[in-house]
Amino acid sequence: MAKSFLALAIILYFCLFQCFAASGSMRKAKRIRARIPCKTLVFYFHDIIYNGHNAGNATAAIVGAPAWGNMTILASQNHFGDLVVFDDPITLDNNLHSTPVGRAQGFYIYDKKEIFTAWLGFSFVFNSTEHKGSINFAGADPLMNKTRDISVIGGTGDFFMTRGIATLMTDAFEGEVYFRLRVEINLYECW
Ligand SMILES: *[C@@H]1O[C@H](CO)[C@@H](O)[C@H](O)[C@H]1NC(C)=O
Ligand SMILES: *[C@@H]1O[C@H](CO)[C@@H](O)[C@H](O)[C@H]1NC(C)=O
Ligand SMILES: *[C@@H]1O[C@H](CO)[C@@H](O)[C@H](O)[C@H]1NC(C)=O
Ligand SMILES: *[C@@H]1O[C@H](CO)[C@@H](O)[C@H](O)[C@H]1NC(C)=O
Repeated sequence: MAKSFLALAIILYFCLFQCFAASGSMRKAKRIRARIPCKTLVFYFHDIIYNGHNAGNATAAIVGAPAWGNMTILASQNHFGDLVVFDDPITLDNNLHSTPVGRAQGFYIYDKKEIFTAWLGFSFVFNSTEHKGSINFAGADPLMNKTRDISVIGGTGDFFMTRGIATLMTDAFEGEVYFRLRVEINLYECW
């Protein structure tokens, strides 16, 4: 009786050990797999901020400003408190005049007095022969960093239920009126 109990205990012990070891390695394997993007895309988008004289060309406008600022010129103290809405053309190369493949639509808020930093919430809305649908983005954008990572929080159409990381890089910055961002989108969930 005691002997068979002992045998049972030993079998149980090894089984449990194997099970835990197996689930542990499965978790590790899954984690490694999840770090390889299922899709990588690169785009540029172009932001022309209204400055009092360019209403015809502007693709972005200050729609909220702190009491010490106004809606024509970005406020002092690193633009803290400014809210900008944009509808920017997206292109495949860095030329503003290339045929757009979609629009980057959303807003950014400058959210720190001490340094130049913003918070972004926007969508890429595609309507080209290559891509249809949208990708949604959100995250902090510390503008002085060469590259900044924001979250890809979802998508529709060709990008149904997607998630990932978008790496932003300021590709051009001209006198507070025009800037161009390069966006490398790495998707880790594709359907
Ligand atoms: C609009 O853009 C065009 C082409 O870049 C430029 O020639 C024109 O001066 C701009 N107009 C305004 C009002 O900024
Ligand atoms: C907006 O603020 C800027 C900078 O303080 C100032 O030069 C400009 O005259 C203001 N514009 C309006 C319309 O109040
Ligand atoms: C997308 O493009 C097609 C063909 O050019 C057009 O008919 C349609 O209205 C566009 N849709 C949007 C949402 O822009
Ligand atoms: C921005 O750069 C600073 C200094 O190089 C670094 O400490 C910080 O982690 C960076 N932030 C992001 C979000 O990349």
